Amino acid sequence: MFPQPFIRRYLPDDEYSILMLEAEAFNEHNPYEYIHFYEVFHDGFFVCVIGQDVVGFIVGYALSESEGHIFSLAVSKYYRNRGIAELLIDHICTYFLLKGLQKASLEVRISNKPAINLYTKLGFSAAWMEFQYYSDGEDGYVMMTNLNSYFFRKEQIKFFGKSEKRKERGVN
Ligand SMILES: CC(C)(COP(=O)(O)OP(=O)(O)OC[C@H]1O[C@@H](n2cnc3c(N)ncnc32)[C@H](O)[C@@H]1OP(=O)(O)O)[C@@H](O)C(=O)NCCC(=O)NCCS
Repeated sequence: MFPQPFIRRYLPDDEYSILMLEAEAFNEHNPYEYIHFYEVFHDGFFVCVIGQDVVGFIVGYALSESEGHIFSLAVSKYYRNRGIAELLIDHICTYFLLKGLQKASLEVRISNKPAINLYTKLGFSAAWMEFQYYSDGEDGYVMMTNLNSYFFRKEQIKFFGKSEKRKERGVN
């Protein structure tokens, strides 16, 4: 049986693990530069730990008085499809809510189906498209959710149980 995942704030000792996760998940930018950028938002930089391993991270910050922005999210390919991204998003949305923010936003590549499914499942919807948002010219969706409806939707998901889609993909 796996030890339970838990979420905590990023610590300087996590740098190497984040570097590895960043390089594995996104090959379009320099992971070192990004980690230093994430550290600026230390308050909203959370990691998921299982046993001794950092297996995922999320970074977000208050973009305005009402909006929290999720800047980056990644889960190790060895630990995907176990609900870790959902745990990380729950955590940052709670953090945004406790800061008095009302909505959360993010950008996602239009080709990133796993991430779009994840955000849609949690109640985010595409607000508009940013043309050629990414360095390779790919377009991105800006997705948004209202934080109150986010937590309401989570309760509904708990009530209706495990998604059929997860079963279709052959994961428990
Ligand atoms: C996107 C990512 C963060 C998902 O992490 P994860 O821990 O595997 O996601 P979860 O297990 O919490 O999945 C939750 C939901 O996401 C969606 N999802 C996740 N992986 C999926 C896949 N391979 N195909 C389709 N939908 C998927 C599903 O809706 C899933 O709910 P379900 O299992 O009840 O159907 C992970 O694949 C990743 O790190 N990818 C590379 C980096 C990246 O794309 N980051 C997001 C940038 S915007």
